[in-house]
Amino acid sequence: MSPDWSDEVLQWGLPRLRDLPWRRVRDPWWVLVSEVMLQQTQVHRVIPKWEAFITAFPAPSACAEASLGDVLRLWQGLGYPRRARNLQAAAVAVVERHDGRLPSDRDALLALAGVGPYTARAVRVFAFELDDAVVDTNIARMFARVAGERLTARQVQTAADAAAIPGEGWAWNQVLMDLGAVLCRPRQPACGECPLASTCAWARAGRPDPDPADGSAHVSVRQARFEGSDRQARGRLLAALGRGAIPIGEVAEAMGRRFGVAHRLVEDLLAEGLIARSGNDLHLPG
Ligand code: ADE
Repeated sequence: MSPDWSDEVLQWGLPRLRDLPWRRVRDPWWVLVSEVMLQQTQVHRVIPKWEAFITAFPAPSACAEASLGDVLRLWQGLGYPRRARNLQAAAVAVVERHDGRLPSDRDALLALAGVGPYTARAVRVFAFELDDAVVDTNIARMFARVAGERLTARQVQTAADAAAIPGEGWAWNQVLMDLGAVLCRPRQPACGECPLASTCAWARAGRPDPDPADGSAHVSVRQARFEGSDRQARGRLLAALGRGAIPIGEVAEAMGRRFGVAHRLVEDLLAEGLIARSGNDLHLPG
């Protein structure tokens, strides 16, 4: 990937960058919260939740001092509530180990709960404006198509590192994210509008099957159906508990599931510490 190629993409993308609220800030905690929310939830659903969350917890210390129940209440509607529990554990660690301020060091970030290689790089780039190359599912899909072949994790990261423009980490990675999310979509990519159409091996070959993105490292498979899923039932119970305690005898109704299924899910949630039990009542953790 040549620097010319990258410069062209940057010039194309900068004026088109989506105006997203976390792009207007550099506070590392605010950026971390956005990245954790965006891991499995769509941008338009994250925006109001992110704003409410950082208003309630403007710094790691505020989140660290809150009850897990309060954190889960703010997480309501985003799904995958383990992310909320991890985020609070990360906030506690930041207070204990880093004086309440998120570190920029990659290993220190990776040591935080719920922070993997993607999120550590994203915080370094989008908050500290360092020069890492982040690879999310959209960016990995794009590099596989440009290469015209399925890529391993190492190959994707190598391609991303080679394409990055030194000194432009923040802008470069945001532009690539938009290119991947808006044009280089999983289905029906908008190659006609893409600044890479003449460079992209897959586009030049006429987009033959199979799509090189399918099965490439870091490219996520479609999420399982939500309707009827355990995820939906768990979400219903957490939403109900956000409004108040529920007698254990009423969980099947709250979840819209049969008794046996509901009780298995309740046992899981109790074991994960995402709900608590006092006598006959279930409630959010205090
Ligand atoms: N997904 C993850 N990080 C993002 C960002 N900074 N902008 C848009 N989508 C994202």
